[in-house]
Amino acid sequence: MAKTTRRVAVTNQKGGVGKTTTTVNLGAALALCHKRVLICDLDPQCNLTVHVDVDPMDEAASLYEVLLGRATLDEVIRPTGVPGLFVAPASVDLAGAEQELATEVGREAILRNAFEASEAEPFDFVLVDCPPSLGLLSLNALVACDEVFVPIQAEFFALQGLGKLHEVVGLVQGRLNPNLSITGMVSCRHDPSTKLAKAVLGDIRDHFGDVLLESVIRRNVKLAEAPSHGRTIFEYDASSRGADDYLALAMELLGEDVVPLVLPVRPFEDDEDDEPAPAAETADDEAPPPTGTSASNGAAEETPGAKETAAPASKSASTEPDSPKPAAPESSATTTGASNTGAANTTASRVPPADGKPIERSSEQAAVPPAPRRARATPPSPWAASGKTAAPRTRPNPET
Ligand SMILES: Nc1ncnc2c1ncn2[C@@H]1O[C@H](COP(=O)(O)OP(=O)(O)OP(=O)(O)O)[C@@H](O)[C@H]1O
Ligand SMILES: [Mg+2]
Repeated sequence: MAKTTRRVAVTNQKGGVGKTTTTVNLGAALALCHKRVLICDLDPQCNLTVHVDVDPMDEAASLYEVLLGRATLDEVIRPTGVPGLFVAPASVDLAGAEQELATEVGREAILRNAFEASEAEPFDFVLVDCPPSLGLLSLNALVACDEVFVPIQAEFFALQGLGKLHEVVGLVQGRLNPNLSITGMVSCRHDPSTKLAKAVLGDIRDHFGDVLLESVIRRNVKLAEAPSHGRTIFEYDASSRGADDYLALAMELLGEDVVPLVLPVRPFEDDEDDEPAPAAETADDEAPPPTGTSASNGAAEETPGAKETAAPASKSASTEPDSPKPAAPESSATTTGASNTGAANTTASRVPPADGKPIERSSEQAAVPPAPRRARATPPSPWAASGKTAAPRTRPNPET
């Protein structure tokens, strides 16, 4: 792997703060900004793997085999539906890896060695999605990466957790990886209307300064719906505020305004089987949409929510509405002159139709995002359809 590759561990031992959502959608946003990006799933929950439509029960090799020395990193990397975005998936077996490696010498550096042995075409970014714990898997990410990126939720307990994380990063830096530092924190599921969020972010800025990024990822139901379709937010609803926010975050990280690639509209395979989407509802929105993809999110924060129209694609949509939908991007693979290495092969196999013409959508279709595929109304449980492991619905605990 090239020395210029930015290797970033996306971590926070607090659960449910947006690590996976950020790894997937920031990775996709960077890819749309013409970077070559690898996202790695180091979490036995396999959420990232499912999010990009890879089956964690798949027999193909995954990062589990890489950690166990049974496969190379290059053997497990796969393309995704986003040009330039690749994934190293997890499998359900990863839950046992910490125990299996318990007596292995040098076990905390296995991922770093795998990165260094990779002969794949160099990536600009490698983002590693960590589990919500500071065990051996997270340690491997911290040893393999130079940067730590911390999604946070601006609530009181966020501060406590950050203290611990800061301590661990300091320890790893001192003993195992002198290059390691926290380079970014981003407020996820952000609610600009609460005083608490402002107060907590103020405290975090006092402690960490500019490491706390200006961009925020606002609460947006489209971000919560996209994984059940196995799509990034840009494939699911490119006109959502979730897509806007992740694009703005990518541009802040890159330090430049770029004209992003626009993905062609990919129809939902199971749409014809689904019942019609419910009629559009009017509901309170949480904040007005940003004025543009590269606009600072902060500008919208002071404005009270407005009444907007949203068509829920699932039950949750009615409680957490989205911004209004401008027309979907007009496009076949409308590139903006960027070269996105590896993209051509990836999209060619994934983007219908065969004649390469853009898929026309009426403005009505563009305004109403599709309902979730019935068979995937909830993300498939990694433990479903057994054959491998009996299926606890709760998070597996590798310690037990
Ligand atoms: N900005 C957002 N708006 C609405 N929902 C969100 C947002 N970000 C994440 N979510 C949803 O919140 C839940 C938790 O997010 P996510 O899985 O990314 O967190 P996590 O930190 O990876 O969790 P874990 O610690 O379990 O790995 C998911 O259902 C996700 O779809
Ligand atoms: Mg996660």
